[in-house]
Amino acid sequence: MGNSQMDRSPAMPLRLGILISGRGSNFLAIAESIRAGRLKSVEIAVVISNVPDAAGLERARELGIAAAVFDSRGRKRAEHDADVAGCLKEHRVDLICLAGYMRLLSPQFVAAFPNRILNIHPSLLPAFPGLEAQEQAFAYGVKVAGCTVHFVDEELDHGAIILQRAIPVLETDDPHSLTARILTEEHKAYSEAIAMVVSGEYEIRGRRFIKRAAFP
Ligand code: GRF
Repeated sequence: MGNSQMDRSPAMPLRLGILISGRGSNFLAIAESIRAGRLKSVEIAVVISNVPDAAGLERARELGIAAAVFDSRGRKRAEHDADVAGCLKEHRVDLICLAGYMRLLSPQFVAAFPNRILNIHPSLLPAFPGLEAQEQAFAYGVKVAGCTVHFVDEELDHGAIILQRAIPVLETDDPHSLTARILTEEHKAYSEAIAMVVSGEYEIRGRRFIKRAAFP
């Protein structure tokens, strides 16, 4: 990919590789967007988990989607990532979506897929990076929470932001209800962000993701 364009023929669906560690509800939301025709010109080439019993793997198999496991326990990061990268290449993946993938990526992996790795994080970054972002936001007492889809760089929850969806924190919320309402937004946000990236109609200027319609 250049700054914004994927290197592929326009007639070919773009192939997603989705990396998970758990239940995979974001993966399933993407799969449903594709099935429903909301997310066009895209197919899921493979779902990869670093956790052997991740529930999302079984769902992938039920949907007839290729599913692979590379158990990361006890593995050196770079070696594990090299296995994952090999699998993504085997499946001719164009765009990698981290969806609840609870493992830091090695710099080598990030460098191998420049501007081709997306992540979803359940906060309005740069607030509350890292684990349990929703609980962090709730405990901090913020009035607005949400989620962020961003490109992945070498730093945790850090790359250029593609889109964010915000919701009010209600007086009646507890961490559980806030997490659930953020998750509902995540399920919309990821497909929207993928559609924007797949369109190729954008530029990244510094940290800013700018849609082509907004170009001067
Ligand atoms: C989501 O909240 C995502 O933002 C975070 O981990 C959770 C994964 O949920 N990174 P799921 O596995 O997609 O259901």
